[in-house]
Amino acid sequence: MAILTNKDGIFILETEHTQYVMGVGTDSILYHIYWGAPCKHSDFFALPGYEKSSNHSELDLAKTEYTPFGGTMYRDCAFKCTYADKTRDCVLKYKEYAVQGDTLHVFLEDAAYGLCVKLSYTVYPACDILSRSATVCNNSDADIMLERAFSAEFSLPSRQPYHIYNSNGTWSGEQQKVVQELACGSLQFESRKGISGHGNTPAFIAAQHESETQGEVFFGALEYSGNFKVSLNRDAFGITRALIGVNDFDFSHTLHKGDAFTAPCVHFGFAESLSDMSNHMNDFAMQHVFPEPFRDEPLPVLYNSWEATEFDVCVEEQKKLAEAAAKIGVELFVMDDGWFGERNSDRAGLGDWTVNPEKFPNGLSELIDHVNTLGMDFGIWFEPEMVNPDSALYRAHPDWTYHYERRTPNELRHQLVLNLTKPEVQDYVFDCVDKVLSAHNIKYVKWDMNRPFSEIGTENLENGKMLWYLHTQALYAIVDKLKARHPQTQFEACASGGGRCDFGAIRHFDQIWTSDNTDAIDRIHIQDGYSLLYPTKYMRAWVTDLKWHNPAPLKFRFNVAMQGALGIGTNLLKMSDEELALCAEQIAFYKKLRRTVQFGKKYRLLNLERDELSVNQYVSRDGKESVVFVVTPSTRFLHHCFSIRLNGLEPDAQYRVRICESVFEKSGAFLMNAGIEQEISGQYVSQIWTIEKL
Ligand code: DGJ
Repeated sequence: MAILTNKDGIFILETEHTQYVMGVGTDSILYHIYWGAPCKHSDFFALPGYEKSSNHSELDLAKTEYTPFGGTMYRDCAFKCTYADKTRDCVLKYKEYAVQGDTLHVFLEDAAYGLCVKLSYTVYPACDILSRSATVCNNSDADIMLERAFSAEFSLPSRQPYHIYNSNGTWSGEQQKVVQELACGSLQFESRKGISGHGNTPAFIAAQHESETQGEVFFGALEYSGNFKVSLNRDAFGITRALIGVNDFDFSHTLHKGDAFTAPCVHFGFAESLSDMSNHMNDFAMQHVFPEPFRDEPLPVLYNSWEATEFDVCVEEQKKLAEAAAKIGVELFVMDDGWFGERNSDRAGLGDWTVNPEKFPNGLSELIDHVNTLGMDFGIWFEPEMVNPDSALYRAHPDWTYHYERRTPNELRHQLVLNLTKPEVQDYVFDCVDKVLSAHNIKYVKWDMNRPFSEIGTENLENGKMLWYLHTQALYAIVDKLKARHPQTQFEACASGGGRCDFGAIRHFDQIWTSDNTDAIDRIHIQDGYSLLYPTKYMRAWVTDLKWHNPAPLKFRFNVAMQGALGIGTNLLKMSDEELALCAEQIAFYKKLRRTVQFGKKYRLLNLERDELSVNQYVSRDGKESVVFVVTPSTRFLHHCFSIRLNGLEPDAQYRVRICESVFEKSGAFLMNAGIEQEISGQYVSQIWTIEKL
């Protein structure tokens, strides 16, 4: 039973290894009671008492489940609104609850103003994950202005400081993990750019005594691709709280009579190690977030011609690249930017989604047919939310962008953001992509987005501050509609690399472009940060030419890119026969182990920064196969032997291990406790070990 309620007004939500408990006080406030490893149900019968003092507000001390601003609430809270009579004070009292399957709805209301907040909690017992969200309804006749309506508030159990994990990234430097102790005050992670962005992660991780094999880890990730805010605070009494939701920066949302605002879901959990956290989230994403129909299919090995040709695409060269790609075992050939309108550089063409007749005199089908004859699927690039001022679309509809009449727009990358809050713009964007997909055999779309918003004027909206949220909702609606119309086409979320890497993208797309940075060493760090909360299958990783900073050998580059969904981005027409043969061999090898990588459990065994080596292990869902990727740019201090303890195996089972030329058998217990002593030294070491259960 995932949801239990008792006569004392206590709700116990239970997964296989965790509990989340809340209850209604005599004052009708919904209090948070417990979050962590399971206890006996009968242990939860009363609410905690809180010290009363005229200097420290009782409400400030309390752990409340969803706290509104008002009264003596001085701390950061989840909700703030202004009523029509200018009252900026909200009192949310428990009204009732309802259970629907594995979802509990708790209804709170501010009866004086007809405001209702529905907190919905869904339990996914087998994944050890819960989801929660908040829906705010205006049941009154007067308007209500929301100024903050976060998805969730969490109170953490320990009064000792937590280690807080997030990322401090940039374009080409996404997912760079930062860990800091929150001793007092607050930490804030956010995006204000219209997308979730390259900087911070829309999630929180708060941990104590943690490592890859032990600890107490509390975490939550927001299912949202727009402006978000994560705020963590620790008060003078030692209570750490986390707030997460749509950013209240430049936010307000008008609720007319009968309107509702639904805050995005937060998927959250408690785990007993960092790797448990990652695996719970990976399992949850695979089972409950990935869209159909590609949920259970491994992603194909793709070739993307962007780095080979950039904007200089033409049918003949693309055909030659496709021939070379087919020979090395590629399954999906993708033509990136440059195929449409007057798109010869990034200065023109966005918005004009018709095939460029000089580059493709016989239309796109000539290339697509060729690709299909070679036995591959065909994929294509779009950037549908954008327009270049130098385009037919902009000349016809200059008012279709976000803009202010008296401001000169910032043309980042020479382009402007389309106002997706306008229904006619939504229709145009849908129709453009739909037309191209309907007329051709296209199995994949890379949906790009290459600049943050600016000059965010929207003359069409009564409340202009709603644009951030409405844009993201419109994006999801368009992509969902396209996917419904073209169910055989996969969609990839890209925003100048990994600028749209979040659970919202995972819900609506089939994969994520992790970063434009394909340098193998940088990628080890980017992929490490990514793997904390995001699913392996969605992590597109390419092998590219040596134009980045580290001169890593081809085999090394494959080793790193094979740890996600493998792609190739090299200029195949410039590679030697030996290099192409190596590509073919590596791709064939990857195809054998990709199910284990894309769907398996992942264990970060050694970390490049800390341990000199990056060692990641994947274990197949049925436990029969495992693969270990060992890489380092260089060992140090004459170190030549490393001890590596595996994870995720059955202690009593016997395994055959293959490392380079050597093959031996050991028990799972030995491999996990004693580990493998392996000779590793030198520069650009790359080994892939395979382990098979006997
Ligand atoms: C940015 C993307 O991240 C790249 O992979 C590529 O698609 C370019 N845009 C094309 O303009």
